[in-house]
Amino acid sequence: MTRLIPLCAAVIGLAAAFSTTAVMAADPVVIKFSHVVAENTPKGQMANKFKELVAEKTGGSVVVEVYPNSQLFGDDKVLEAMLLGDVQIAAPALSKFSRYTDVLALYDLPFLFKDLDAVDRFQQSEQGQMMLDAISKKGLIGLGYLHNGMKQLSSSKPLRVPDDASGLKFRIMSSEVLEAQFKAVDAAPLKKPFSEVFTLLQTKAIDGQENTWSNIYSKKFFEVQPYITESNHGLLDYMVVTSKEFWGGLPDEQRAQVKEAMDEALAFGNQVARDKAVEDKQLIAESGRTEIIELTDEERTLWVEAMKPVWKQFEKEIGADLIDSAYRSNDTGSVAAN
Ligand code: SIN
Repeated sequence: MTRLIPLCAAVIGLAAAFSTTAVMAADPVVIKFSHVVAENTPKGQMANKFKELVAEKTGGSVVVEVYPNSQLFGDDKVLEAMLLGDVQIAAPALSKFSRYTDVLALYDLPFLFKDLDAVDRFQQSEQGQMMLDAISKKGLIGLGYLHNGMKQLSSSKPLRVPDDASGLKFRIMSSEVLEAQFKAVDAAPLKKPFSEVFTLLQTKAIDGQENTWSNIYSKKFFEVQPYITESNHGLLDYMVVTSKEFWGGLPDEQRAQVKEAMDEALAFGNQVARDKAVEDKQLIAESGRTEIIELTDEERTLWVEAMKPVWKQFEKEIGADLIDSAYRSNDTGSVAAN
């Protein structure tokens, strides 16, 4: 009997150890998060924060792998890859959804939002939130919006008035609205992936591009563009997306934990976006590599007058009411411009 008790304890101990090992060895759910920008950007930092928060909230049962700098997929392929199950989360610019829906083209209309506060008011409104479902028929779910910021125009020539852009080649994202915007100032727009922009500028295959301070800084566009016009003419924001198949396949508890992590990561990333717009502009100015051109009110009015007719051109696809609501969010009194 005295020998039996230690034997039983050993067997029970062994079984317990085995089952713990089995639980620990259960494969974690892996989320591949693919994006195209550098890690020191709002999206790069948001993705890394999301990875950290998911590990914390799920106790390691869900693992996020972040692939920055177009390492895994460029934005032209990432949504197809998501539908095939090769990537679980991405956050393409809102300008890159045109193959999936017309309505998100709203966000590309030039001079629609005056600043990120107006964008927030619209995105938090009922209409803004409904737009996260715009791609659901295609098997994708919008988990939330992320800011990068307002776009500036960089160029090989100083751009003060719309005529200065005439005949110049500008790289754009894959958006019909952005194409129309540059045609409106008699420039030549070229749809090219983000990963090619630096080389296109460096080799002078194109004359300019439009982007935010953080992308211009982190991808060193300012080193190969002698002029940047602070135009704030458009918005670069993202929609974080996943596939219905992946999201629906997560157990309820894990899905709730991952969503909570995403909401917190987005709030963090949105603050980074506001900070970086100021810091990266400052770093570019201090570099002495490029001249930052500030527009007078009169010069800015000329750009607005030249580009605003694009709104009418896309009114049918986007919806006049939606454009009007978004525009009204510039009014600080509009809590939610529905
Ligand atoms: C991004 O910020 O994700 C890329 C934007 C671009 O393609 O210009």
